[in-house]
Amino acid sequence: MALPDDFLYELKTRNPIDETVSRYISLKKRGKNLIGLCPFHGEKTPSFTLYPENGSFYCFGCGKGGDVISFTMAIENLDYMESVKLLADRAGIRLPEQGYDDSAHRLRKTIYEINREAARFFNSYLNSPEGKIGYEYIKGRRITDATIKRFGLGYAPAEWDKLTKRLRSLGFNYEDMVTAGVTLKTKSGSFVDRFRNRMVFPLVDLRGNVLAFSCRKIDPEDYGGKYVNTNDTPVYKKSHNVFALNLAKNSGEDYFILCEGSMDVVMLQQAGFKNAVAAWGTAFTPEQAHLLKKYTDKIVLTLDADEAGQKATDRAISILNAEGMDVKVIRIPNGKDPDEFIKHYGKDGYDRFKALIEGAGNDVEYRLFKAMQNKDLTTAEGKAEFLSKAAEVLAQLSSPIERDIYASKLSEMYEVSKDAIMREINRGVRSASKERNQKQVRKLTEMPTVDRINPERTKNTRAANAEEGLLAVLIKNPDLIPFANQHLSTDSFITSFNRRVYEVISELHADNRPIDLVLLGTVFNSEELGRIVSVTVREDARANSKEECLTCINVIKEENSKSSLNGEETDDGDLAEYFKKLAEQKK
Ligand code: GTP
Ligand code: MN
Repeated sequence: MALPDDFLYELKTRNPIDETVSRYISLKKRGKNLIGLCPFHGEKTPSFTLYPENGSFYCFGCGKGGDVISFTMAIENLDYMESVKLLADRAGIRLPEQGYDDSAHRLRKTIYEINREAARFFNSYLNSPEGKIGYEYIKGRRITDATIKRFGLGYAPAEWDKLTKRLRSLGFNYEDMVTAGVTLKTKSGSFVDRFRNRMVFPLVDLRGNVLAFSCRKIDPEDYGGKYVNTNDTPVYKKSHNVFALNLAKNSGEDYFILCEGSMDVVMLQQAGFKNAVAAWGTAFTPEQAHLLKKYTDKIVLTLDADEAGQKATDRAISILNAEGMDVKVIRIPNGKDPDEFIKHYGKDGYDRFKALIEGAGNDVEYRLFKAMQNKDLTTAEGKAEFLSKAAEVLAQLSSPIERDIYASKLSEMYEVSKDAIMREINRGVRSASKERNQKQVRKLTEMPTVDRINPERTKNTRAANAEEGLLAVLIKNPDLIPFANQHLSTDSFITSFNRRVYEVISELHADNRPIDLVLLGTVFNSEELGRIVSVTVREDARANSKEECLTCINVIKEENSKSSLNGEETDDGDLAEYFKKLAEQKK
């Protein structure tokens, strides 16, 4: 990808990091830097830091970092070229005519077009004589024409290749259809539709692009599972998207109703709950929570009442809590799902469901309710068992006031002394905080074992620390690069990622080009760039001097000769020490 340096500088200068970031979050000044709440993970105290000096950002909470381009990639969910285009657009700069490869961008565009044509095809097929069976199924589920239109629902014909043929006639090639996930290549080499004889729910993103389809079986005897959904494609990541968010975000409500299936969403919205969304299946993810958090911090959960649904509820609660969101849980009587409930009550559906929402307990009440399940509260043992489970639940609350309030309630309801309950809770609190500490330590020491960017780091921490110290000094003081080059060849580096960084900055400098993140961003991907920023930020405290350079160089050399003598050597003690220090710095 060869964008000219001049263009990249201008792009960077015309899109200052603080201006760009403040479009998305609010920022406060701290010294020469700015801080705010990280848009990439849930947090209540700001650890997201901007360094206008070199145009970088770094979050001390989640470790994400980079420059204005990689920030745009992450927050807008775009690839490199798309982000460059967006920033160029914003600043009113023209893209250089030639010299970059936008094939990934073109492929995504083609997939969007294929999906749009497919959605159109499925939808219009409802009105054809052959599509009658699909239309009747949808009608049988009490879905109105207006709802069909609002969601763009459709029917995928039962024939083998109606859609594929149609797309072919529009000029799309088979390979792109397969990549989009609407066509399959058979063993014999022919191309057939992926969705056949099914009702179709399209997933539309916030810009109106069709990303994926979820297709429900109409004939129970037919192929495949009840639902067949689009797998991940270049435009769609299952775990990052939420069905009907495009509609729900304009509902005017200050909360979302999160359900399990698309059918639930369609029926709830039809009944008047325009804020219903679904995660398509039971595995709710932190990325989905994060996406919802952009629009609201209140969620009403209404997952299925079966065992799988309860597990999913527990999981969703902890994910949503981790994002700092308020959660209420609806329990629908008789194990119905929202679709069945709404249908059951007909025109009273709205009021009935509204009443459920209003009566919904918060997540603590839900957990207390679960602690009560299957226990005979008329016996002393049953009661004791429940109270000890309940104390466990309350021990997890971080607010002492909340713990106290629930303890009072329980004491009144079950005629047990509040002191006894509080004692039980406090015991739980102590062991919970112990566990949290242990987890934290584990997390800190485990972190490097999943180091995808620099896998050798784990086993060579002393060398890697010195390498990073050196890189930090050189990135800040490029005039020291020739000095470093004199004393240290690239071969002396022990970890390959750091070696690559050293090579790249040495080459840039030799070419008389500055060591600028926006240039490094054309060589390294955004995760790698984030690592480079984290190294410069982490080593901020070190003196930026020749002396520091030499110290690091000597350690690298020392480690290098050691490793060639001893083969691989683990250095876990040092590692733990390092991460402890790192953790202390963060405080
Ligand atoms: P109806 O039975 O039509 O009312 O749909 P439902 O939403 O009640 O279905 P269910 O509760 O069984 O499933 C909820 C969600 O799980 C669906 O919307 C799908 O996203 C997902 N799901 C269910 N069955 C399957 C399956 O066989 N395959 C896949 N991939 N997903 C499924
Ligand atoms: Mn259902």
